[in-house]
Amino acid sequence: MKPIVVLGSVNMDLVLNCPTLPLPGQTVQGDDFKTLPGGKGANQAVAAVRLGAAVSFIGCVGDDDFGRSTRAVLVAEGIDTSQLRTVAGVATGVAMIMVEASGQNCIALSAGANGALSVAQVDEAAATIEGAALLICQLESPLPAVQRAIAIAHAAGVPVLLNPAPAQPLPAELLAQVDVLVPNESEAAVLLGLVPGAAFDAAAAAEALRALGPRTVIVTLGAAGVQVAGDGNNRHIAAKPVKAIDTTGAGDTFIGAYAAARCAGAYLHAAVAYAQQAAAFSVARAGTIDAMPRVGDLPPLKAASA
Ligand code: RIB
Repeated sequence: MKPIVVLGSVNMDLVLNCPTLPLPGQTVQGDDFKTLPGGKGANQAVAAVRLGAAVSFIGCVGDDDFGRSTRAVLVAEGIDTSQLRTVAGVATGVAMIMVEASGQNCIALSAGANGALSVAQVDEAAATIEGAALLICQLESPLPAVQRAIAIAHAAGVPVLLNPAPAQPLPAELLAQVDVLVPNESEAAVLLGLVPGAAFDAAAAAEALRALGPRTVIVTLGAAGVQVAGDGNNRHIAAKPVKAIDTTGAGDTFIGAYAAARCAGAYLHAAVAYAQQAAAFSVARAGTIDAMPRVGDLPPLKAASA
């Protein structure tokens, strides 16, 4: 089985539960503080491997306790970490996460060692990328490294899935090399240069993003489901209602599950439905990686449907 290659971030998440998220200048009393492995790259890699994919990871951690423990988690999940570099003298990436009682969160990041992922490291991993079933990238890694990995994959005919998070405007040449783009609403708005807070039309946004190059655009809309634009159709797929405990990493779970399903042969809408089930499973539980499903936790994947 060809692996899914995930190029991305590894963070230690410092997670505090709060009754409500603090406003600027406000102090709120939280409880149940935890340190948990995270990072969008690591999360997506774990979500995919738990659902049956072979996964190789390209990224960086620091030479510190957070780096050692996050690496150990990826290894224990069965992910190939031979191209997860330990960078001397730099701290592992950290995410400060507050989760309120509704399940919503806010996150502030320190890139740390994630910022050390270089074009040279990507070039060293070229054979791995060229041998992938799918390359998955996000934007918690330096853009030149992401661009290089996508260019290598594109030249080798390896499909590319980009999760443009955290949001930033992207060069047209980059988007033209992406096969599957998976933004949330605010990331889609940034890519399209929409006015922040303006009314958002998910169907129009998905079509406008497709016009920039990706063959498939999946706009994740949280509890409102997803908007999927692919060849010849653009449709909204509702999410089943779920009582949210913690939405952190729901998008990452969706992406890893979608990737695993596609690489197992599922058609687009079957893979999206499977990914929605995986994300719903994760938001109903606390934590990010801790909350991700394994194969037996979900109804069997329907490999064939439109
Ligand atoms: O998407 C959730 C992730 O975003 C967290 O695990 C945190 O590390 C940040 O990268």
